[in-house]
Amino acid sequence: MKCKITNKKIEPFMSFGKMPISNNFLKKEDFKKEYFFEMEVGFSETISLLQLINHPEPNQMFNNNYPFFTSSSQFMVKHFKQYADWIMQNFLKPNSRIIEIGSNDGTMLKNFVKSGYIVSGIEPSKNCADIANKNSIKTLNSFFSTNLLSQLESFLGNTDAIIAANCICHIPNLEEVFKTVEKLLSKNGVFIFEEPYLGSVFDKVSYDQIYDEHIYLFSVTSIMKIAKIYGFELIDVIEQATHGGSMRYVISRKNKIVSPNVQKYLEKEKLKGHDTLQGCLKFKNDCEKSKEKLVTFIRNIKSKNCNIAGYAATSKSTTVLNYCGIGTKELDCIYDTTKEKIGKYSPGKHIPIVSYEEFTKNYPDYAYLLAYNHKDEIYEKEKEFSLRGGKWFSHVEI
Ligand code: TMP
Repeated sequence: MKCKITNKKIEPFMSFGKMPISNNFLKKEDFKKEYFFEMEVGFSETISLLQLINHPEPNQMFNNNYPFFTSSSQFMVKHFKQYADWIMQNFLKPNSRIIEIGSNDGTMLKNFVKSGYIVSGIEPSKNCADIANKNSIKTLNSFFSTNLLSQLESFLGNTDAIIAANCICHIPNLEEVFKTVEKLLSKNGVFIFEEPYLGSVFDKVSYDQIYDEHIYLFSVTSIMKIAKIYGFELIDVIEQATHGGSMRYVISRKNKIVSPNVQKYLEKEKLKGHDTLQGCLKFKNDCEKSKEKLVTFIRNIKSKNCNIAGYAATSKSTTVLNYCGIGTKELDCIYDTTKEKIGKYSPGKHIPIVSYEEFTKNYPDYAYLLAYNHKDEIYEKEKEFSLRGGKWFSHVEI
């Protein structure tokens, strides 16, 4: 297979096995027709980019049934407010125009609208775009591409910030993204996005960040090289706690001042081997060890006749549960807050999804925190569980 950016041949360095669509929470009658693909991962040494070899088409994932709403996490709502404030302070002037790629239900753009800026959200999942428009956050229900330019006339060459969060790594055709950014960005405009960070994934062995929607796992080295290919420059990077470890990237047209942060992370990645295939092979080995550890840990709990429930039916849990072969024998159910998931079954392993309200009525002995990135928020909300002797665990912390 060829690297999606350089077009040079790359080989898979590992496979996570057969995977379903990570967000396809399904009904019993749909089990038989569930779609699976072989989730192999490759690495382009030329641009230091980790990428999925095969993945479902974007419209199989982002459609009218997309079951994730940014506003479902108070922590994320707060994070997006801080992200928006930071952009306003550093990059905007009165009357600046802002575009968000993958704007979901408008949670982040709402902050700019409140401050009087002109915004346009771009969101391919119709159910999410509808919510944003209902709340008067102007959103085009579409993928971000040059096809949209005729609908964004007043933004052409006039957009001071094009922003995204947990979205750019979902887009297979990055050339099209940069071409569209090139047309929209003002002379001193910035393209800012934050995405799960390869450095954190490798350090924590949080391989569950790799799933169908995450076609790429970016690092500072890879983004620096990709920006260059498309005629832009990476001018700053700032690490974030979100999604178990993310990186915010700031990209501009060429010949701007580059923050020393960029060099700092480039050196760090080189030192750790995160920019080479060698580093990926170590990661592969770490994933196999992590799988063995989790399976043994769960087997030990079950041998003591204790029961386990999953907590939070995250998309990334689809990778762990399917890769490690954890199903209904191991987990009684998964508790979750999302009404679109409740009453359905988890992708691939078909574990029942139950309303989080039932958790308090029926505490298990152990709760597997599948949303470890929301740990503080969930531990606080469910502190009674620990007080009554319940035990939390997650694959990144055993
Ligand atoms: P994601 O990691 O794929 O974005 O999904 C997060 C899931 O976690 C989503 O289904 C909602 C769920 N969740 C809870 O059930 N309780 C919580 O307190 C939080 C923050 C999330």
